[in-house]
Amino acid sequence: MAAGEVSIDGQVVDSGEARVSVFDRGFLYGDSVFEVFRTYGGVPFGQREHLERLQRSADRLMISMPVSVETLSSEVAATLEAAGEGEWYVRVVITRGTGPLTYDPSTATTPLRVIIAAPVSVPPADHYERGIAVALLHASRPTDDERASGAKASNYLANLLAVHEAKQKGAQEALMLGRRGQILEGASSNLFIVKDGVVRTPERQTGILMGITRAAVLAAAATEGIGVEEGEVRPEDLYDADEAFITSSIREVMPVVSADGRTIGPGAPGSVTKRLHEAYLRTVAQATGAGV
Ligand SMILES: Cc1ncc(COP(=O)(O)O)c(C=O)c1O
Repeated sequence: MAAGEVSIDGQVVDSGEARVSVFDRGFLYGDSVFEVFRTYGGVPFGQREHLERLQRSADRLMISMPVSVETLSSEVAATLEAAGEGEWYVRVVITRGTGPLTYDPSTATTPLRVIIAAPVSVPPADHYERGIAVALLHASRPTDDERASGAKASNYLANLLAVHEAKQKGAQEALMLGRRGQILEGASSNLFIVKDGVVRTPERQTGILMGITRAAVLAAAATEGIGVEEGEVRPEDLYDADEAFITSSIREVMPVVSADGRTIGPGAPGSVTKRLHEAYLRTVAQATGAGV
């Protein structure tokens, strides 16, 4: 499989040749927004939803989108075309661009767009078969601040340090706690719990990223006739849940079987989780035509 391709401001280049300026504010300050999605059978899933969220993230941070969602879609298609056969991880980044070495965002006037198509790396099968462990942590992310809340901003330092800490505790994902001690979301995922057959997930008002996978899973639950609530999820709700799972575009629906070393339910992936993962894969298959 090829190493992938990159598109910079609409020009496709081999990934080894892709370069951006050291004066780019994305590099200097994490002053950029991004999206990640993947292909199934070579076709991106949820691309429009992701690119529309990118537009909203850019609006939130006052980065003017350099091109329309339609143009960006064509550029993703051209990048995938150049990448050739295979399944691709697609990352789209819009930075505020280059400017003088000052924090004032108004000094950068030409945003830069980068599309990366890299071979997709999926989680090990054993994570789906046995489930993963999570650790609950306090972290203060730029998007926990009202000014940036809800935006998918590239500054993930707090998230990656939280993942590092979670891994040291033997967990595969960090769950972020809000100021009132409620669970917000994973470092790169949304959380769901299942109690007495009802699915529950933190609500929009907490400032979480409204995951594209989260939305697809909520729609799948409605189709399956599974009850859903959006509301506060406290650590004790997770510890006492019958089942739990996280969602993201790369991990899809991943069972969680322990939190902070406490076993959730029977300590094995639950039936509602499995049903929702299968339903999610049917949604993906319908949308992309891929046999997943
Ligand atoms: C903080 C955060 N929450 C949730 C998600 C899941 O979003 P999606 O389902 O759109 O991939 C991500 C994905 O990277 C994320 O970074």
